[in-house]
Amino acid sequence: MRLGTVALTGAAGNIGSAVREALRSEARRLILLDRAPLRAEADNEDVRTVDLRDPAAVESALAGADQVLHLGGIPDEAPLADLLDVNVLGTQHVLEAARRTGIARVVLASSNRVTGFYPVGHLTTPQDPVRPDGLYGVSKAAVEALGRLYADKFGLSVICLRIGSFEPAPTEPRHLATWLSPRDAVGYVLAALTAPPIVRFATGYAVSANTRRFWATPDPAVLDYAPVDNAEPHAADIRDADLPADPSAPQAGPYARPEFTLPHLRP
Ligand SMILES: NC(=O)c1ccc[n+]([C@@H]2O[C@H](COP(=O)([O-])OP(=O)(O)OC[C@H]3O[C@@H](n4cnc5c(N)ncnc54)[C@H](O)[C@@H]3O)[C@@H](O)[C@H]2O)c1
Repeated sequence: MRLGTVALTGAAGNIGSAVREALRSEARRLILLDRAPLRAEADNEDVRTVDLRDPAAVESALAGADQVLHLGGIPDEAPLADLLDVNVLGTQHVLEAARRTGIARVVLASSNRVTGFYPVGHLTTPQDPVRPDGLYGVSKAAVEALGRLYADKFGLSVICLRIGSFEPAPTEPRHLATWLSPRDAVGYVLAALTAPPIVRFATGYAVSANTRRFWATPDPAVLDYAPVDNAEPHAADIRDADLPADPSAPQAGPYARPEFTLPHLRP
């Protein structure tokens, strides 16, 4: 067992459900938070129904945690007011609880969509300035900025994972570059939670070892995990997988189109 008490927000979600089992066997105790009701499935699990918009409830649920994996939030395009409320303020509530109660490590779920406007022909790294592909990407850029602020100003240790396309298997051409397998998701999450305390702040792409990937994999000195899955063997099952990719097209694919954001703006 490598971990003490780990709190997991968004525990009822896709990624939360997938990493929960692995965390359960790596952590002495697991505090599972979501606004959706959860049921404890093991002796070392505690469940809490919490809305991330309620700072006092977040702080009380996180009491006693050594690390937090913050996955809760709106995972896609939405009106900016909602994204600010849940993703940005919700993250600040988690960071504030960590600051006030002395939690050693906070791992924040960021997204590849903070850099979605870089072209497919560019290998994007966390050193590149953000180029969000929508309002959701803007909210995740703010999440990362909050993490950096709490690391620089208050000395918290914060790691931001820019998660790729988390899917059981790749199903569309873009996934051949962006897929994050469940196994690699667990690997990155555990690496982030167990990274040495000397890591004060870091941002890395959590992506499988896809032949066509256009994001740099993290520095092993910071995140000690080498992804093992590759989307390429699935290409034969994906329609249009072998159409030549336009190197100047945005990495975000369809998410970069105005139509993706327009329904969330005022008419
Ligand atoms: N799935 C992906 O491919 C992907 C890619 C990049 C980033 N991410 C990020 O990873 C995280 C998890 O994504 P996911 O796919 O599991 O999403 P999901 O929607 O399946 O899970 C998010 C969870 O957050 C909870 N939640 C939402 N609003 C809440 C609130 N106000 N209070 C408390 N809980 C709330 C939901 O109930 C849900 O269980 C998100 O932050 C998302 O932005 C996901």
